[in-house]
Amino acid sequence: MSIALLYERSEADELGIKQTADQLGIKLKFIPFRKISLCFYKDGYSFKTKGKDYTSVVKDVAVVLNRAQSKNRRLFASHIMETFGKKTINPSSIEFECYSKLRTLLHFWAWGIPIPKTVYVPCDPVDTTRDGREIHNEPDIAELLQDEIALEEGIVVKPDAGTHGKGIVLAKNHDELIANIQTAKPSITNPVGVLAQELVQKWFYDLRIIVYKEKGRNPVCHPAALARGGFKDFRTNTYLGNLVFDAALPTYVKELSVKCGKALSKDHDAYIFALDAMINVGANKSIDDTTLKQELKNAAVAFEPVKKVKKDELKLKDFPKWNSQLESAFKEYKNSEPYVKIKSIIEESIEKNKGNVVFHEANSCPEFWEHTRLTAGINIAVPLLKGAQSLVES
Ligand SMILES: Nc1ncnc2c1ncn2[C@@H]1O[C@H](COP(=O)(O)OP(=O)(O)OP(=O)(O)O)[C@@H](O)[C@H]1O
Ligand SMILES: [Mg+2]
Repeated sequence: MSIALLYERSEADELGIKQTADQLGIKLKFIPFRKISLCFYKDGYSFKTKGKDYTSVVKDVAVVLNRAQSKNRRLFASHIMETFGKKTINPSSIEFECYSKLRTLLHFWAWGIPIPKTVYVPCDPVDTTRDGREIHNEPDIAELLQDEIALEEGIVVKPDAGTHGKGIVLAKNHDELIANIQTAKPSITNPVGVLAQELVQKWFYDLRIIVYKEKGRNPVCHPAALARGGFKDFRTNTYLGNLVFDAALPTYVKELSVKCGKALSKDHDAYIFALDAMINVGANKSIDDTTLKQELKNAAVAFEPVKKVKKDELKLKDFPKWNSQLESAFKEYKNSEPYVKIKSIIEESIEKNKGNVVFHEANSCPEFWEHTRLTAGINIAVPLLKGAQSLVES
């Protein structure tokens, strides 16, 4: 019985998992999950692409690493594989919780984990009556939100299942709030209602924290977080072009992160999460924003060579060679003066304000090969593969 990587497209993360499996001496199987047909019928099933029959591969596999990128496809993939008797990382119940920011936040809340104040209104911004009239609920929704969160401080409206910061909008006055509520119309990323949060006063960075568990061992929080930083927008995630730094985590934050893992994983034996957290720094800043902006500009210059390698097509032609180039580029970036300075500003800020950490999301299939691995120093492929091995052995 073996371990398989289920994937949609082979990108850096998938190639990285393959390379890591080779290094660990694990013979990985591959299960495509896009242009395939899954057929199930009385007493049997088949799993095929146009040119190849994967049925026996699927049958022989004990554990599936689910790396389908679309949240819906990933959820289906976990359900299908579990129904066929496979163990999955992550299991479908974890995928289900992580799919929704609201569900995730509710679990955190129930476990006493600090979160941004969150308000959910199940009503959609516009209802259409049977005779085609539109009923506008935006003013009522705005009032319900404003009753709970002070608008002058900022109200963040976000899609329940969005990624890459898309559709996350900030309002500080009534007109903006109404306009933002209108954008929350029902869609695949926001099935129903309006999800809003207080604006966390987080200075220029937020944190991505890795928590994982293998069967028979305690959950682990990786001691360094990936800090994503910049002043481009109130959203600081990497997708929007922000810079990345590593930041050592205080014990208090690591313990809370492990608690987040427990809150979402129920009694599952092996899992991995990338938690999104923010530190409510408020006015407790160690340097002024003008000086900091200059340092970030300098860091952006130091990051340019990394960006160049990231875009290089060598990635697909010769992955190991491209990977060594990426590793050297990151090493230089991390040794650069602005990087070292900003890293220490972030670490000092986390340490001083650790009591004000809030957790707001858990990602069940995080990107990792480029930023997380080379900045925070954790190759997620290792806990993924070791987690899978721990399940095979059981
Ligand atoms: N309540 C909030 N207060 C302040 N900033 C916020 C708040 N919620 C989100 N943000 C900012 O917006 C960014 C994106 O938020 P979030 O992680 O919820 O979105 P996402 O679509 O899941 O993005 P990703 O896929 O990159 O994780 C965060 O990195 C953070 O900087
Ligand atoms: Mg996020």
